[in-house]
Amino acid sequence: MNMENYSEVTRDQVEQALNIAVNQIAGDLDQFTHAFKINGTTNNFYEPNINRSWTSGFWTGQIWLAYEWTKDERFRKAAEVQVDSFSKRMDDNFDINHHDMGFLYSLSCVAAYKLTENQIGKEAAIRAANHLITRYQEDGQFIQAWGNVGADDNYRLIIDCLLNLPLLYWATEVTGDSKYADIAQRHIDTSLKVVLREDHSTYHTYYFEKGTGKPLYGETRQGYSDDSAWARGQAWGIYGTALSYRYTKKEAYKDIFYKVTDFFIDNLPKDLVPYWDFEFSDPSTESRDSSAAAIAVCGILEMCKYLEKEQKEKYRCVALKILKSLIDNYAAKDPKSSNGLLLHGVYAKGTPYNNCEDRNVDECNVWGDYFYLEALMREVKDWKLYW
Ligand code: GLY
Repeated sequence: MNMENYSEVTRDQVEQALNIAVNQIAGDLDQFTHAFKINGTTNNFYEPNINRSWTSGFWTGQIWLAYEWTKDERFRKAAEVQVDSFSKRMDDNFDINHHDMGFLYSLSCVAAYKLTENQIGKEAAIRAANHLITRYQEDGQFIQAWGNVGADDNYRLIIDCLLNLPLLYWATEVTGDSKYADIAQRHIDTSLKVVLREDHSTYHTYYFEKGTGKPLYGETRQGYSDDSAWARGQAWGIYGTALSYRYTKKEAYKDIFYKVTDFFIDNLPKDLVPYWDFEFSDPSTESRDSSAAAIAVCGILEMCKYLEKEQKEKYRCVALKILKSLIDNYAAKDPKSSNGLLLHGVYAKGTPYNNCEDRNVDECNVWGDYFYLEALMREVKDWKLYW
């Protein structure tokens, strides 16, 4: 993708976008303090929901980001109500039979602890980390994503899990117990060995043989087909390898970052926001997944911290061009037309090859909103990660 004629976003444009987003979040607090935004919108509006699914933490994370930017106590109080809810979710063992403890607890409870030393958040997040490591499978050396632990039909990892691992690195840091980081390390090594294809696209999920741990085959869940490159999966790969590098400083992960990121960049359509699967390219009537672009921007900006000057400039420049397209063409600007931040995402889209039903197609989704806001924050301050 030749991006020479694209311009990078400016600091003023970022601040303007950030203020629009934070005003939207402030306006939503009445409806969404004791309730959550989860998953995606219908006709661009979220309905209030209970604290469930893998996505509720993205809403709390947005509130914490808004608090960081404004220091307005209304945000802090709302986020604290939600942290209590996350603590109760662990007490009740409610909807946690999966690996998404990082998505849920890093952005809500770890954020609370890092920003305000919230002890309820700290304790809940450690419990979440303890729960996550119960899903570790020695045969194959990976954290099982979905289903009952050890289930034959779900003996697999998924690329998204790389974003759940910072919770484990954080748990090692605060408890002094290396077992969390050890498991994270083994999972990263296994994942990065199996998910990357020869053309540097990625598998969404990968199965192992139970009993021997032998790697078996890749399969998609939300991509177009087993052999295609699901755009959000590729974006999880970008941010996932950047975070893996952040926590381990293993040079091999940097190489994988370049490969996964270059595939993403090289296959972008003209407006720099991918269709929901790289099976599609311009011209196409398929939906975009704006969330994939937002995740990729955050991952690239994170990795730029560790790159040499020339590479840093190259990748940072790409990230800022993608972010400009998100602000100009995808950001919601009027609370009357949406209560989300980033339009035109896709949760899932059914194809003859993926056993999925359509979910939130061409809608906002709460992780797209979160990563969009995180990307903006990264550009206005030296943002300390909740991850
Ligand atoms: N982690 C689930 C998804 O990206 O849809």
